[in-house]
Amino acid sequence: MKRVLVVLVALLALQTQAQTHDWENPAVLGINKLPYHATLQLPSKQKECKEIISLDGQWLFHWSRKPEERPADFYKEDYDVSQWKKISVPGNWQLQGFGTPIYVNMSYPFAKDRPSVTSEPPKDWTAYENRNPVGSYVTFVDVTKDMLSKNLILHFGGVHSAMYLWVNGQKVGYSQNSMSPAEFDVTKYMRAGKNKIAVEVYRWSDGSYLECQDMWRLSGIFRSVQLWVRPLVHIADYKIEAIPNADYSQFTVNAKITVCNTGKKTAKDLLVQLQMACPELYGVNVDPNHRNIANHCISRLHAGDTTVVELTYHYDTPPRLWTAEKPWLYPFTLQLLGMKDSKNNEEFAYHFGVKKVEIVGEVFKINGKNVKLRGVNRHDHHPKTGRYVDNATYEQDIRLMKQANVNFLRTSHYPDREYLYELCDKWGIYVMDEANHETHGYGYANKVMGEDLSFQKAHVDRAESLVKRDFNHPCVILWSLGNEGAQGPNIEAMYHKVKQLDTTRPAFYDSDRRYSDIWDDSYLYPDELKKNAQTVNDKPFMMREYAHAMGNSCGNLQEYWDVIYSDSSICGAAIWDWVDQGIEKDGTYLYGGDFGDKPNDGQFCLNGLLAPDRTPHPHYYEVQKVYQPLQFLREPDGTIRIVNRDSFTTVDEYDITYDTLRYDSEVVLNVSAHLKEDKPWAKKGFTIAREQFVLQAWNWKNKAEVATSLYHKEKQETKSFTISGNSLTSWIVDGHEVLQAPLEPYFWKPENDNQSAAGFARRTAIWKEVKDVKVNYTIINEHSILVEVDYQPAAQDRPVMPKFGMRMRLPANYTAITYYGRGPWENYPDRKRSAFLGKYQMPLSAYETDYLHPQDNGNRCDIRWFEISSAPAAVGSPAARTLRIEGCQPLCIRAWDYGEEDLEGVHHPSDIQHGRFVNLNIDANIHGVGGTDTWGKRTLPQYTIDGNQPHHYSFILSFQ
Ligand code: GAL
Ligand code: MG
Repeated sequence: MKRVLVVLVALLALQTQAQTHDWENPAVLGINKLPYHATLQLPSKQKECKEIISLDGQWLFHWSRKPEERPADFYKEDYDVSQWKKISVPGNWQLQGFGTPIYVNMSYPFAKDRPSVTSEPPKDWTAYENRNPVGSYVTFVDVTKDMLSKNLILHFGGVHSAMYLWVNGQKVGYSQNSMSPAEFDVTKYMRAGKNKIAVEVYRWSDGSYLECQDMWRLSGIFRSVQLWVRPLVHIADYKIEAIPNADYSQFTVNAKITVCNTGKKTAKDLLVQLQMACPELYGVNVDPNHRNIANHCISRLHAGDTTVVELTYHYDTPPRLWTAEKPWLYPFTLQLLGMKDSKNNEEFAYHFGVKKVEIVGEVFKINGKNVKLRGVNRHDHHPKTGRYVDNATYEQDIRLMKQANVNFLRTSHYPDREYLYELCDKWGIYVMDEANHETHGYGYANKVMGEDLSFQKAHVDRAESLVKRDFNHPCVILWSLGNEGAQGPNIEAMYHKVKQLDTTRPAFYDSDRRYSDIWDDSYLYPDELKKNAQTVNDKPFMMREYAHAMGNSCGNLQEYWDVIYSDSSICGAAIWDWVDQGIEKDGTYLYGGDFGDKPNDGQFCLNGLLAPDRTPHPHYYEVQKVYQPLQFLREPDGTIRIVNRDSFTTVDEYDITYDTLRYDSEVVLNVSAHLKEDKPWAKKGFTIAREQFVLQAWNWKNKAEVATSLYHKEKQETKSFTISGNSLTSWIVDGHEVLQAPLEPYFWKPENDNQSAAGFARRTAIWKEVKDVKVNYTIINEHSILVEVDYQPAAQDRPVMPKFGMRMRLPANYTAITYYGRGPWENYPDRKRSAFLGKYQMPLSAYETDYLHPQDNGNRCDIRWFEISSAPAAVGSPAARTLRIEGCQPLCIRAWDYGEEDLEGVHHPSDIQHGRFVNLNIDANIHGVGGTDTWGKRTLPQYTIDGNQPHHYSFILSFQ
């Protein structure tokens, strides 16, 4: 008996071993999944498509910490789900009160032990207790008898990370590859009346090994769910290629349309018809020459068969080309008609664009021109709905990109929702469409995942789903195999898959350059970019990521573009990245760790040009300026020369205007270029490019003059001022103390994110104490004082100075600012090209910048004068007063209603203690913000302050 038992146990053990979960088995990527195909109907027109029923809305939901605890039988028809909670579909469950969002950059949030995702992680990890949470979803859908005579397909736009589907208690299938649609034929499971749809979603699966992107790791049915009610014989897929001939005098449109018969009878006499240039689709004026219909008859299609119909048009007239500058689209409708009866009719609306993408030697070309890709990377992120981004936010994003002169978008690091591509088609953005593939947890360019052949299918699946879905979008100019993945045969297989599916577009990959048509080297300094691009001679060069826009950053952007414009082999660069990935909770934006998520990478997800709610950060405007297509140069004889960086637009397509402005002694010329007509993303008159030239320079106060002749000089013992050593410790005006803290030399400033990553505080710590400085105060009268600061290094090998200047504190009610200098937004020596000289007025709160991770902020450069006034007097309080600061040379001024110490070590803007005083830093110069990366690279030397050189500056303080 014992013996038998042992054998039995051994057998059982064997069996459990063999019974691997689909979601921990890289050989199983899907079960009963329909083949990937192109988006059949333009997303904006899907509401009008009579085949689509949306299943979005409130579903019933149950969340379990681990697979063993899931309600395994929930899919059964008699399982009672009436007490379950509700959840919004599409959406991520962690943002609807279930489980924990986890933000990690390059590590796996579960125990790395492929293909398992349930091995034991460290005890303090979120995944320890929540060992692969499962979301069980239920909804019901009504189906009519008529619908049952058709082909019914359930379409899931995106489910993270793996899902099972049941209909009416019957298992339909399984899918992973979370950022691409999964479709299932559910015809045979459906019945007339109410149908139960049950979906079981696993937070992690073996697919998660390819989804190690630097982002919030969120789960659930996060894109739309649709029920397609299709004719039994229908268009399963189509591919449109529209290519100009060599001299762009003619073009060819080639359509490959896949038709399948899902019925039980042979279909006869079908007509596939492509009708081009339907003006009513967009209301555009379509060239009548290009109105056309082509069709093809399928006389027989047997039950279960699929056929590919090829329609080719040749036009002997030149095409109107599609470019990001002029996104000309040819709308068309594609129909499948039964010639004898109309039962099978179906019709889709879409568009194509005619364009050619080429690599000629080391030059990247679009429509024969060496275009420059002025790029950004963008994660599909919304502060409230996470990985689901609604159409209005998509429109806002693309509008803000167009307004910032961005012409290139990398969909880092996976395919976005289809509507985004439609917008890029229509409004004009070149897209690098990226496969949902990153294996950073095994290391950048690792061999582990690249050579593990059991994961080859999974790699290829991600390339295939990408190209097949988005093939027909004219905006796509490059396919990216993924980000920070492996090297080896799995990558090679991806590359070949892309090439097999598309011969018209190059493929890109960063981690194994053998399988990339473009050479990528990211996050280089401008001079490294120049050098490296010169060394690579067989491919175009690009920085798929640069200018890490974390916190207060994006310095030296122009330096990059001077290099890029000077070398035709560099096709462009894309900023990392578009929007801060903060998650909104009770009015605060949270980042890694704020949910108790472990492991986490803190604020490293806040690298955007925009805040999560899409409010531009100050550096957004710098990008807009540096990316502008027109550059204005002033020749020695005073003429303004315009350099056009675009390839398909001429200067006379803009209205050029200029303005001469006088500010006291200074005269500036502002030149700008404006849209001549409304665009979908900006109104007529919108400023596309601008520049400022100083025609007559500011007449700086001469301090000798100030001190001797201009004002009546008093002795130091005046009642008003108390000077002690280098400090002005008291200043009484009309009986009131003006200084809440002395005016004194102060060379320290808090770090920004770039600087803290580069060890700035450690390197420059000696400047927390001021050294070798002498301040000379000259009292002009009881309302004015001249301050002269002189630094003479008495030692060698001093590090760079955080800033060279002074600091003082005023009472808290000094909150109204007017100044003449660069603005209106924050600017620093290495990020001030977009901030023109002008007279600006704003409250103190607008002078500050609230970075989501608090850090140094708010500087304005090249200030001639600066006034800060007490708020309008309340009854009984002293009348409003104004402190005026006048430079004897340009000043940098930061004004905060908190101190340096309040910024350091706090985690969120709401942690800052505001309003006890006003902190004024009055400087000759400040260390630039840096603009390369946030993991060690430094501010360019020309934007630093040499601690080994003497420095001198002066200014006048006066009360009015
Ligand atoms: C890059 C990576 C991005 C992001 C960035 C840092 O190397 O491709 O996904 O992690 O670093 O913010
Ligand atoms: Mg990464």
